Order: sequence, then structure tokens, then C-alpha cells
Amino acid sequence: MNRVSLTRYLVEKQREKGLITAELRLLLEVCARACKAISTAVGKGALAGVLGEAGSANVQGESQKKLDVIANETLLEANEWGGHLAAMASEEMDHPYPIPNRYPKGGFLLLFDPLDGSSNIDVNVSIGTIFSVLRAPENGEADEAAFLQPGHRQLAAGYAVYGPSTLLVLTVGDGVACFTLDRETGSWLLTRDQIQIPAQTREFAINASNARHWEPPVKRYIDELLAGKEGARAQDFNMRWVASMVADVHRIMTRGGIFMYPRDRREPGKPGRLRLMYEANPMAFLVEQAGGAATNGHQRILDIVPTQLHERVAVMLGSREEVERVSAYHQPG
Ligand code: F6P
Ligand code: MN
Repeated sequence: MNRVSLTRYLVEKQREKGLITAELRLLLEVCARACKAISTAVGKGALAGVLGEAGSANVQGESQKKLDVIANETLLEANEWGGHLAAMASEEMDHPYPIPNRYPKGGFLLLFDPLDGSSNIDVNVSIGTIFSVLRAPENGEADEAAFLQPGHRQLAAGYAVYGPSTLLVLTVGDGVACFTLDRETGSWLLTRDQIQIPAQTREFAINASNARHWEPPVKRYIDELLAGKEGARAQDFNMRWVASMVADVHRIMTRGGIFMYPRDRREPGKPGRLRLMYEANPMAFLVEQAGGAATNGHQRILDIVPTQLHERVAVMLGSREEVERVSAYHQPG
């Protein structure tokens, strides 16, 4: 079967639809290549000595795994010399990474969570990479402030899932496509296009161990799901929680569902666990492009104006009707 490669998919978006420039196409190809290299390292696991702790911590105070560091370096090295970027920012780096002076600079900013779902690395459960592309400001400044743009300004976003197969799920603002890595030829081949998340679902994903800390709207929503047929919803709901956002979101991309990491009352200064710029925004862009919705309960994720690079945010995303319902529960009155 003659499948469409990632390169051809992107060339067509550029040539036929004029949706992306050649520079953005090349940048996305480099990101995909970096994900391929990360997939290879993930796949070797203990044989390559890449499992376990790195012995360091990131800006969030979370301990870094060896693969967090390897994935971060892989993305930096792959992207620093191509001439497409003004700077990069990562979950694993306190501050933006400027393009070294020995290389040309370009007009884009790249943000990434190099290895999402770190707690699953050592137990051989799906993990992934999430990335987001923004335009750099015209003045050429690529400091932290340059990154603080709302998610609706993203030019492209994607994630790779390192699971039983390695997948790349991508949007350039013209729907969502999924590519599967052919491990023998090293090509990314289109296996789903124009993905649509069903508007309704009977499946939800939340870390229920935090239930006692949830705010009332989330508690009400989840209690109603748990009450099943006998409750207000008059139907049973199933629960799944992989604890890798990429894997949980990918399930929703495949068969629908709602994913929630709400804010809770433990640390009032931290609105949620997930990070806006390189987790929530790219996933929200992808989910909306697939016909779903993404909110923090009060506001569309893509409309939030960030104030910090590593800002946290509550996330509720997936099947539109469920996301709308839980948002409605957050409205006063
Ligand atoms: O990046 C944060 C993350 O690992 C997500 O991938 C995942 O959804 C979540 O944290 C898991 O959180 P918890 O450890 O509370 O289940
Ligand atoms: Mn993550």
C-alpha cells in the first residue's frame, strides 16, 4: 500500500494549501526526526542504560529521569542548527535556550515537554513528547517574554507517543493527522487524517486519588459519573488513567473521552499540575482541531494569556459535550 509520508503531507500543506511556509515544514520535519531518535532510545531501555534517575531536578522541583535529560538534549541538538528558530523552551530548562551565535536564527519559537509521563519510563508504559510552535516577535527578541503568547497563536503543535507503536500526531491548523513510524524504513507514514473526537463519551480520565482536594464543580461532575445508571446522568461511565498525558489524550483522539487534571486545594498558588505552554496549549490546539474542547473550567485554554514560561493550569479536555458540561458546573449561579 502506498502511504503518504510526513514529508509529502507537509509539502502538500505548503504547496497546495499555502498553510505553512517551507521554513515551518522543515522545522516540523526536524522535530519529527528528534522524536524518532527519542523513540529509539526509549525502545532500547535498559540495554542502553537509559532508565533510572538522572540525579538532578527541573525548575518545578521534580526529579529528572535519565530519559528526560536525553530527550531534552536530543531536541535541542536537532533543532539548534537548522536556522528556523529564534529560541527554544522546555519543561526541563529554567529559562529559554537561545540559538547559539554560530548558527543562523529564524522566525519561530519552539516549546516542548521532551518526555511526558516520566513516572511511566521505568515501568515500560507509554510516554511521549509534546511540542508547540509560535512565531518569534518581529523585533528578533527571543527572551522569556517572547514566549508568553496565548495558545491560539500557535502555528503548529504535536505529540509523539512511544507505545506499542511510535506515533506522531500533528496539527498545522488544518485538522489533525496521525503518522506511524515504520521502524524498518524510519519513515513516518500517515495512518489517520482529519481525526474527529466524538462529541459524546462514556469514558473519563482523572487521578481520583486527589478527590478529597477537588473543588466543588469537579467533585459534582465526577460524582455524577460515578453514580452511573442510578444517578443524574442515567448511564454508566468507565474510567482510564494512564498517567502519561500523551497516552490519555491519544486514547481520546482515538475513541473519545474526557481528560481532567483540575486545580485543587492543596497548593492554591499552583492552578493545577500541568504546564500551560508546552502541555496544555499544544494539546488544546490538537483537541480543538479534532472537534473537541479544552478549558480550565472558566476559560478556553487557548485564550489564556500566559504570565510565566512554566505557568501551571487546570485542564479539562476532550469530547465536546462533556467538556461543556463540566465548564457549566464552574459558572456561578
Ligand atoms: O507531565 C505531567 C504528567 O506526567 C502527565 O503526563 C500526566 O497526565 C500527569 O502528570 C500524571 O499525574 P499523576 O502523577 O498525578 O497521576
Ligand atoms: Mn509532561
